[in-house]
Amino acid sequence: MAKGLDVRANEKNFIELKEYIDSIRHSQGLLMQTLHKAQEIFGYLPIEVQKFISTELDIPLSEVYGVTTFYTQFSTEPKGKHKIGVCLGTACYVKGAQQILDKLSKELKVEVGQTTKDNLFTLEATRCLGCCGLAPVMMIDQDVYGKLDPKNIPEILAKYNDRG
Ligand code: FES
Repeated sequence: MAKGLDVRANEKNFIELKEYIDSIRHSQGLLMQTLHKAQEIFGYLPIEVQKFISTELDIPLSEVYGVTTFYTQFSTEPKGKHKIGVCLGTACYVKGAQQILDKLSKELKVEVGQTTKDNLFTLEATRCLGCCGLAPVMMIDQDVYGKLDPKNIPEILAKYNDRG
């Protein structure tokens, strides 16, 4: 469970979000647009931000929460600096993607969908990344790694540790 957002420390972000809402108040699809903008500003959509949107748009919190959790593009957890996406498409799965995922999970001490304590990595599973010939495949940010073997994982992660 993520710890709560420090509302006071994020005051500027709330002001920015409020200005955005005021600028689009009369347009359609207000909730979706606002959630997108809020995620851009805060990086994720913690409950404090959802409550703010609920009040500003005069929409029940249950509805804001429902939409936030329904769409996978929205996240209620903070994301790490580097996003790891392990392909679990058929070709990758057959070639051992689950072992890659297990190794990452063990190395980073997180489950799929979680972010490491130091906020450096978020581990996710993805659909086919379109390079099945390289199976099993993962992406870290924009970098593609193919023909993976679990034993290479620590070395790959170390590159991003160095970058901080
Ligand atoms: S199944 Fe993994 S890249 Fe296509």
